[in-house]
Amino acid sequence: MVEEENKNEDKTRENPCTTKQSSKKRNRKEVAIFGNYRNYYGYRVDHDLEEDPRMKVLKRDWFEGKKCLDIGCNSGLITISIAKKFGCQSILGVDIDGDRIEDAHWTLRKVAKMSARILSSKKPKRADAELFNGLENHTSASLTEVTPQKSVDTPCLQGNDLFDIVSFQKGNFVQNWRPPQDTYYHTILCLSVTKWIHLNWGDEGLITLFWKVWKLLQPGGVFILEPQPWSSYKNNRLVTETAATNYKTIQIPPEDFQDILLDKIGFRRVDNLTSTLSGSKTGFNRPILAFWK
Ligand SMILES: C[S@@+](CC[C@H](N)C(=O)[O-])C[C@H]1O[C@@H](n2cnc3c(N)ncnc32)[C@H](O)[C@@H]1O
Repeated sequence: MVEEENKNEDKTRENPCTTKQSSKKRNRKEVAIFGNYRNYYGYRVDHDLEEDPRMKVLKRDWFEGKKCLDIGCNSGLITISIAKKFGCQSILGVDIDGDRIEDAHWTLRKVAKMSARILSSKKPKRADAELFNGLENHTSASLTEVTPQKSVDTPCLQGNDLFDIVSFQKGNFVQNWRPPQDTYYHTILCLSVTKWIHLNWGDEGLITLFWKVWKLLQPGGVFILEPQPWSSYKNNRLVTETAATNYKTIQIPPEDFQDILLDKIGFRRVDNLTSTLSGSKTGFNRPILAFWK
């Protein structure tokens, strides 16, 4: 399967989280070695859709009034969408790439400004709407074009409330990111990140991720996981020498993640939400699993 992620890897700008490929074909283009694509949502989500299809399988109960963590938040669109749609107590997005965190802060400012304008019942200025739609195309539109009438999905969040609820931090979740002291989360998301952790830090990195999530969850908390399939690893195995080596030595295929999380890490139950997911673009039709601590 040719993954969209792979096709778009050349679009990243230069930063420490990317490498330059020297082969003729790639001709000094940059590769997002952590899956830290710029404009990820611009190609991940179909332009005609109102929101990222994954939003539809997420349950309000997991987020409303809850402390949440989004591992590998990229430019923060899912993080902000969740805060807006469900009204979390707080949601923190963490990403290894400082440029993506900058993008996320920028998006948050824009979305908050637009939300405030809508809630003060002025129609958004056309120029602003165009700006948002141009951010990462329609996904941003879904964040901003919500009117108060559609309040089933937009509870009480006003523009400025978003700043109290949503925050972003640069950090490598596997190696050195630590939450504020004594913080435990009710809900932790890890969407389309495991392949990148697996390729960069091998099986050890993957198990570290799972253990750390377990420790950071409150009893009764939920871990929402969207793993990429093993078939897609092949497309990205050459991003670095480390990834190429890890690709050859990985012993835990994504099909085994569920058993490991239940039998070894200690989650008590899993709900498979995949059957309720529809509208994903080709190459992004991935399972979504909810594990209960
Ligand atoms: C393919 S994107 C997925 C974005 C988002 N979770 C989603 O599904 O919409 C993967 C993201 O994970 C981040 N990432 C990879 N390894 C990471 C790590 N060890 N710690 C934090 N973020 C990481 C990348 O920088 C990238 O932004």
